[in-house]
Amino acid sequence: MTALETRPSDALANDRSHVFHSWSAQGMINPIVVAGAEGSWFWDEDGKRYLDFSSQLVNVNIGHQHPKLVAAIQEQAARLCTIAPFHANDARSEAARLIAERAPGDLDMVFFTNGGAEATENAIRMARLHTGRHKILTMYRSYHGATGGAIQLTGDPRRWPSEPGLPGVVKFWGPYPYRSAFHSSTVEEESERALQHLRDVLMVEGAQNIAAILLESVVGTNGILVPPPGYLEGVRALCDEFGIVLIADEVMSGFGRCGEWFAIDNWRVAPDLICFAKGVNSGYLPLGGVVISRRIAETFKTRQFPGGLTYSGHPLACASAVASINIFEEEGIIDHARHLGRDVIGPELEKLKAKHLSVGDVRGVGVFWAIELVKNRETREPLVPFNAAGEANAPMLELVAACKARNLWPFTHFNRIHVVPPLTTSDDEVRQGIAILDEVLELADARYAG
Ligand SMILES: Cc1ncc(COP(=O)(O)O)c(C=O)c1O
Repeated sequence: MTALETRPSDALANDRSHVFHSWSAQGMINPIVVAGAEGSWFWDEDGKRYLDFSSQLVNVNIGHQHPKLVAAIQEQAARLCTIAPFHANDARSEAARLIAERAPGDLDMVFFTNGGAEATENAIRMARLHTGRHKILTMYRSYHGATGGAIQLTGDPRRWPSEPGLPGVVKFWGPYPYRSAFHSSTVEEESERALQHLRDVLMVEGAQNIAAILLESVVGTNGILVPPPGYLEGVRALCDEFGIVLIADEVMSGFGRCGEWFAIDNWRVAPDLICFAKGVNSGYLPLGGVVISRRIAETFKTRQFPGGLTYSGHPLACASAVASINIFEEEGIIDHARHLGRDVIGPELEKLKAKHLSVGDVRGVGVFWAIELVKNRETREPLVPFNAAGEANAPMLELVAACKARNLWPFTHFNRIHVVPPLTTSDDEVRQGIAILDEVLELADARYAG
């Protein structure tokens, strides 16, 4: 029996017996069996439909089963499925050209990987070799992947079980106006103080030892933290002052998610390296990479770059990136993302905040938004504690269950609901999803203790 002939009802039994899932206690999960998907919807084998307010893992930017993207993959599969990375290939060359042309500054070469973690791993390898220094600075509130090095770059608690690991990674606090580590009361103050803190970290670590500052242009899973005015410009200036490589991790925030090709374009700052994955081809095939500035590419002109992957620049994955970028242009998808954020999601979430006491803060850009839930607006005590598990996390699990019961698939993290549907979602669908959030937030309000 081939995979396609397998009875759908076998999928769950075989999953439970043989599939070892990410980030899970294997006996504690009960996945739904997804039978199909289209646009901003997917459905299970009983035909129950879900409006995808998560874009799966915030990667299906173009929506599910875009017919032109599916056709491009089929066409490339019929032409050439695979070829070793040391050959040149038209799909790979075109993908690299299209990505480089959209990247800011003088970033114009692309090293392809299979996903985001391999992108951050290779970006820090490039930065270390380019500078001859070893330390890497990353934020506490960050995620950079789950491979050996990337999980140490990661600031959030997913790092803890993998410690100790890669030496030389130092963490710092980034700006977060709603929960300022610097006791600031305005975004301007937050920006200024976060930059002074970073300067202090450079001083005590020895700026001359620091190869790179790696940050998410807009912090994703760890809070949708949109940098306050002047922050990214200030980090760029510090990097220039001390000869440090600035790496923008745009794995989640790139490719239209923040209403620009790259999130950092919102601030007109050019990093030295950009890590991408997810939205580059909406995960139709595994693909990621690093976009490289001319100066860093120059380092490896006559000196070997000591890194590689069998599937670097895989033609099928690259053909899907080419098709996806062209579809984004033809269909004005980035303009639509900007419109959704400005005219629909932003104003609708402000209404939720006005109505529900449990909504402490709403923030975002493009189609990248968070609703931060609190027990008390005055103290800002979160609805559930940092990194809550089990019973302590019950209030969030209750919200998730209520969303799913109403055919909405949410993305939640800690005490937040993220609003991150595909960029192609219609205004009406977005309103439909937010109306469901409006209903379920009554549950969070019931736990309000302010
Ligand atoms: C900002 C960021 N960097 C890196 C990664 C890792 O990407 P991948 O899961 O493709 O390895 C992620 C994944 O969510 C991410 O959000």
